[in-house]
Amino acid sequence: MKDLFDKIYKDKGPLGKWAAHAEGYFVFPKLEGEISNRMKFQGKDVITWSINDYLGLANHPEVRKVDAEAAAEYGSAYPMGARMMSGHTEMHEQLQNELAAFVSKEAAYLLNFGYQGMVSTIDALVAKDDIIVYDVDAHACIIDGVRLHMGKRFTYKHNDVESLEKNLERATKMAEQTGGGILVISEGVFGMRGEQGRLQEIVALKKKFNFRLFVDDAHGFGTLGATGAGAGEEQGVQGDIDVYFATFAKSMASTGAFIAGDQEIIDYLKYNLRSQMFAKSLQMQLVKGALKRLDMLRTMPELKQNLWKIVDALQSGLKERGFDIGTTQSCVTPVYLKGSIPEAMALVKDLRENYGIFCSIVVYPVIPKGLILLRMIPTATHTLEDVRETLDAFDAIRERLQNGTYKRLSAAVMSAMEG
Ligand SMILES: Cc1ncc(COP(=O)(O)O)c(C=O)c1O
Repeated sequence: MKDLFDKIYKDKGPLGKWAAHAEGYFVFPKLEGEISNRMKFQGKDVITWSINDYLGLANHPEVRKVDAEAAAEYGSAYPMGARMMSGHTEMHEQLQNELAAFVSKEAAYLLNFGYQGMVSTIDALVAKDDIIVYDVDAHACIIDGVRLHMGKRFTYKHNDVESLEKNLERATKMAEQTGGGILVISEGVFGMRGEQGRLQEIVALKKKFNFRLFVDDAHGFGTLGATGAGAGEEQGVQGDIDVYFATFAKSMASTGAFIAGDQEIIDYLKYNLRSQMFAKSLQMQLVKGALKRLDMLRTMPELKQNLWKIVDALQSGLKERGFDIGTTQSCVTPVYLKGSIPEAMALVKDLRENYGIFCSIVVYPVIPKGLILLRMIPTATHTLEDVRETLDAFDAIRERLQNGTYKRLSAAVMSAMEG
């Protein structure tokens, strides 16, 4: 009989197999210094384009002050226990009420982590006879939530409303047999490529099909819509999103998340969300910190304006210089280049070492083989000078990619790996 660990000794997984050459540099890098547009990587100054601190709140002095005061007042333990048992406070309720009002929903409920909360919300919303229809490029937390579902599920082609419609036809027939309902799940903004979920068109399908819509708006919350309420607000369909989700891990620069919807639905989730019923309540420091951040989202529109000034400068600058930034409709700024994984590694090394630019690199299996995606996250703390320096660096690395410099440099890496 095999030892359980045999497979682990043999195969580290699609990303794990690069660990020996990539860890500490391409994966698990250690960025140092205060969270901002410029930090240190391996002792060198770099412009950081890989932190989801969209509104620049992570290190904002007012936020730091409230976080520190809350830590001094409550420590990191309070309150103890799950919300249902002993971990409930006025302040948790206040935050929920303010979040609900901000995203124009009747009620909201806090989640300790976005990932777990999404998994748990999907689990709580569907029963065995229900059918889930979801975007094939959904975030891992959606995929894991769907995995818990004991009934049928269909994917539709990425952001393809025709494909969604076909799958809704199938799902409707199936639901008539099982006697269940249909849950459609999309993201408000797809975090890798930056397109907005086609929420208006999805919502329009409600005229033809009977389904409920659940939107993960991790990247839309705080960055899109007139008030920052997200992709639903931006597209004028917030009222038609049945369950709205956002994390505190991006615009709010913290930890935690929430779901929002009709009172009766949130009341149900409050009693059925296993990730919250059987886990310690969100600690007070995070709750008080989130109240402060939310207040800043509401009262400081200049944060979002600063963010978009940088987004516009970066995205239009890249396009003017002929870079392929795909179909982004959000702050997420992908730059697609053609090349192998070893070439991508040499290119990123050059960017970091010689140009002081730190951005994330995404390769196969997340995107098709032969493509390199440099994913950039502009924030309100970046400056136009950061954008100019970055654009110049991108011009230089594109030339080196095209003239084969990285192919030559990567040959050494390849032979080391094969060896
Ligand atoms: C689309 C999306 N959903 C959910 C999550 C998970 O949120 P959290 O980091 O709060 O667990 C993320 C990443 O943060 C995300 O990008």
